[in-house]
Amino acid sequence: MSSRYISEYRLRNHRKDQFIDWIKAFFSMPFMLHAVTQNNQLAHDKYKNIFLEIENLVREKVNHDGGCRSTKIPRLDKLVNSLGTFFTPLPLADAFMIQDEKRAISSRIKVPPSFNDIRHILNTAQLLALARSRDLRLITFDGDVTLYKNGGSLVEGDRAALRVFELLKMGLHVAVVTAAGYTEAENYELRLAGLIKLMESTDSVPIEIKQRLCLIGGQSNFLFRYYEHEGRGGLEKIDESLWGCDAFVHWDQADIKATLDLAEKMFYSFKTSLNLPPETKIVRKSRSVGIVMGEKWDPESKCNVSVPFFRETLQEIVSCLQAELDNFEPSKRIVFNCFDGGEDVWCDIGAKDLGIRILQHFCCPENPMKPTQSLHIGDQFEPIGSGNDFKARLAASTVWISSPIETISALDELILYKKQFSH
Ligand code: IMP
Ligand code: MG
Repeated sequence: MSSRYISEYRLRNHRKDQFIDWIKAFFSMPFMLHAVTQNNQLAHDKYKNIFLEIENLVREKVNHDGGCRSTKIPRLDKLVNSLGTFFTPLPLADAFMIQDEKRAISSRIKVPPSFNDIRHILNTAQLLALARSRDLRLITFDGDVTLYKNGGSLVEGDRAALRVFELLKMGLHVAVVTAAGYTEAENYELRLAGLIKLMESTDSVPIEIKQRLCLIGGQSNFLFRYYEHEGRGGLEKIDESLWGCDAFVHWDQADIKATLDLAEKMFYSFKTSLNLPPETKIVRKSRSVGIVMGEKWDPESKCNVSVPFFRETLQEIVSCLQAELDNFEPSKRIVFNCFDGGEDVWCDIGAKDLGIRILQHFCCPENPMKPTQSLHIGDQFEPIGSGNDFKARLAASTVWISSPIETISALDELILYKKQFSH
């Protein structure tokens, strides 16, 4: 792969979302007409009709992927490269009306419908579809940037925690699926502290409902479940023999070690080749290895401050690492995920689609949840090589948020639509 190809394709085109960009392109013509005519109603109707057309294409693909397979390739697959599976239809025209009301998209005459507008419309369509199907059973959340800010935690009274508890009370199974990899419960208990406090202090909700809260750490490596003992809540580790999935019980420890060894060796060589700050740390764990910011004394503020990496440095590290491991025989025999976490780069053994599949079976072994009954909310959906939520799309429908505030809005929407469609 030439470096031109990498910078043009992987770092520009491939880091975006092809489906969103494809939708966005449809709006340039009606937007330009709108800028001239300034007729909001006309723009609104034109935009809505475009979403209606795309909605029909998605429905055709869902029917095809979901079993009504005619020999014909769905039109959408011919129009957009590398589309995954859509597990539900997407009511895009209705979602557009809802988001247009909020964001006044069709009233704008200087700024056309943007990537972000379309991301929000797709999210609303996904939430509407799941509420209308009345078949949602499992909702999973990424941790950093989705439930709490990067490196943060759910604090007491946290609005996200209130909504997560509400979903449990509505009968859903809820889980956090995070890349953060710790073998023991303490670190995760700290990060979910506000939610645990809320649950342990609510005696009116039976433990059977509360136990529907799980957490899977290291993407698919360590499983925990909520428990209460003498009035105190916490997370108990579940032995792997109770949830180990076929996909990885046969992985060879030697392949895991060789993959992590190679990633670690590359991180050390990047320290020199990319002139990384001397404070940079390389962290090796049982199922992951990461390169993270160090700290140094700042005489001005008189405290220790983090020494961040350049954006381009993180992109270079993750792209080189991914390319090397893709061609490394031991890594090919297992599943690994390299990603740029925004401030660090990690190579994890496992991936979030595996984590979600484990939960789909563990939460209800006698009747495992299907991808059509699962939703994952996360912030990192850039394709392979940079996003750790991307692979979740293989196992569940998804909602792509960019901050914990957006997660709260998405949950408010979901709760509202679920109530509307419950009768
Ligand atoms: P997530 O967004 O909840 O999936 O968490 C991703 C973040 O967790 C990364 O950007 C890292 O900063 C942090 N992290 C801590 N330990 C690990 C690990 O073992 N693997 C991957 N990420 C980790
Ligand atoms: Mg995240």
